[in-house]
Amino acid sequence: GGQPAPAPIADTSMKLVNDAAHPWMPLTADQQRGPCPGLNALASHGWLPRSGVATPGEIVTAVQNGFNMEYNRALLVTYAAFLVNGNLLTNLMSIGGISRLTGPAPPAPALASGLNTHGTFEGDASLSRSDAALGDNHSFNETLFQQIIDISNKVGGGRYNVSAAAEVRFQRFQQSVAENPGFFFSTPRFNTAFIETVFPIVFFIDGRSTDPGLDLDVMRDFFQNSRMPPDFHRRGTPSGGSDEELDFVMAAHDYVPGFNNGTVNSFTFDPNFMGTQTDTLCALYEKFVNTTMELYPSPQGDLRDAINTNLDNFFIPVSTRCTQIFPFP
Ligand code: HEM
Ligand code: MG
Repeated sequence: GGQPAPAPIADTSMKLVNDAAHPWMPLTADQQRGPCPGLNALASHGWLPRSGVATPGEIVTAVQNGFNMEYNRALLVTYAAFLVNGNLLTNLMSIGGISRLTGPAPPAPALASGLNTHGTFEGDASLSRSDAALGDNHSFNETLFQQIIDISNKVGGGRYNVSAAAEVRFQRFQQSVAENPGFFFSTPRFNTAFIETVFPIVFFIDGRSTDPGLDLDVMRDFFQNSRMPPDFHRRGTPSGGSDEELDFVMAAHDYVPGFNNGTVNSFTFDPNFMGTQTDTLCALYEKFVNTTMELYPSPQGDLRDAINTNLDNFFIPVSTRCTQIFPFP
């Protein structure tokens, strides 16, 4: 069971990706879209199956082809998500909600319920989606998008740039502290919440542009309609999400990993956010391995083989920094 990770794509040059072979098409019944505007757009342009149900290998290849996401970053994010939200028996995952198209699921507590599933990968204080405890955690939210517009007008000169990203991140953090009694902002969400704020700048700006900010209408079309602008070219170099921009967003305000203690405004530092690790990337790796272990208490046969293959795939991008963990030897 399980499939080895695909090889990296060969051609990583800038190119037209909203091309004749990948037209945007509106959603039909049964097609899944979810909390990730990047994957949503890839599905609505046919770089991923338009059903929104895909293999992890298809996702790894599509994010490289469609957006020039760097290979190791694509592996890390995809296999993290697949291990906790995918169907390990059929090798399929929904990029949105639970779908019959992913086939018969392994027994509970395995989830196999897609990226909409709250609390394993999807988390709180998203830019354009509500906290799960406060509303819909996967659909575009106009009120939240208006906040992005307001902040971009105030500090980004009318575009979503790194200054806007930093203030949007902080505002959404403060809102969740003040409104969500169960707000969770520790590993892995502490990592993903920051990188997500720079993804629109890194991946949604046309590769031919030298503008450091994203046009807000283009941003809306990605976030709301899963649609690339006409003639959209992917960036001309692979990226995992810019380190400089990520550092800027993280340094713009004081953040610590933590959570609310069951009441609003009770945000508390999480002393266990590093697990047994000393490196944050390895802590994220360990967290997903531990979650996988909880979802599969005693896997056997094909299921066990598939889990182990996907754990091996997940380890590839961290192999130079972390020690591999084998929960099912
Ligand atoms: C958010 C999965 C690649 C852009 C998310 C979320 C998930 C996810 C589960 C929801 C997290 C949350 O906000 O609670 C994935 C997976 C990928 C991937 C499995 C596979 C490599 C990409 C790519 C892009 C992208 C290539 C950009 C081209 C974003 C953005 C958000 C997001 C901007 C934040 C949305 C918001 O906060 O409103 N992704 N993603 N992702 N993703 Fe992806
Ligand atoms: Mg979320």
